[in-house]
Amino acid sequence: MEKQIKHKDLLGLEYLDKDEINLILDTADSMKEILERPIKKVPTLRGKTIVNLFFEPSTRTQSSFDLAAKRLSADTVSVSTKGSAVQKGETLLDTLKNLDAMKADAFIVRHWASGAPHFLAAHTDAAVINAGDGMHEHPTQALLDMLTMRQRFGRIEGLNVLIVGDILHSRVARSNIFGLTKLGAKVTLCGPPTIVPEEFRELGVEISYNIDEAIEGKDVIMGLRIQRERLEEAYFPSIREYRKFFGITRSRLKKAQENAVIMHPGPVNWGVELDYELQEERDSLILDQVTNGVAIRMAVLYLFIRGEKIHE
Ligand code: CP
Repeated sequence: MEKQIKHKDLLGLEYLDKDEINLILDTADSMKEILERPIKKVPTLRGKTIVNLFFEPSTRTQSSFDLAAKRLSADTVSVSTKGSAVQKGETLLDTLKNLDAMKADAFIVRHWASGAPHFLAAHTDAAVINAGDGMHEHPTQALLDMLTMRQRFGRIEGLNVLIVGDILHSRVARSNIFGLTKLGAKVTLCGPPTIVPEEFRELGVEISYNIDEAIEGKDVIMGLRIQRERLEEAYFPSIREYRKFFGITRSRLKKAQENAVIMHPGPVNWGVELDYELQEERDSLILDQVTNGVAIRMAVLYLFIRGEKIHE
């Protein structure tokens, strides 16, 4: 029997088991093959309607979900705060109900409030895919990160992954912690104590407040964006001080494994979390992550909308 996802919605990697995560990664490998063809389009989701609901800015996630839906021949509609009835005060639930009345098969939801996709999922029979909710989860980002690691190293199990930066506010960090630990990677978090809380140890990770020690022997060094829009209070004295103590530089990378790679979900603050000199670094997988984003989102749409078989 064909393996299937056991959930209507993709709300976070916390709720998926190891087999479901591997199923999405394996399906994304098949999607990558489609993306290598001269005509990068299959009729798998023909007749399905996908609504992109983006209430926060996005470049990578929104465009790759849109492209993924088009590659699978689905019809897409995009609604954002600007230019929609949300600006006139329409509630999130009313927005959903009205779009649902047009017979949507899936809603892709990015929202500044943690839990917004969960709330919407309880009010529609359509699949709800979390495209990043507040400080909670960003499951497709972590899936594309894991696909990129698996592509480079041939495995996730046993990899030593260091995540550096604003863990407290990061939905990317949370999703990666859930996904990577389920697949057997060893995750270490690093950053100033104010934005790397001790409580994260309960999720099965190690914590270090010294990047020069933490980077030793790591296979993957993932920088996270310093989220100036969420760092209203003084979590560290200055950007300059953050860069001095936690910035990822070429000299610090020398302490990692010889074949270590740099990753970042974007957008990058060059000169803050990653040094300018790493922009041309050959071991940077940042654009591979973006490329894999389309394949992962095709896999997610296929599996959660339950389209026809992909090899037609
Ligand atoms: N990584 C990520 O979510 O980027 P966007 O905000 O551009 O979608």
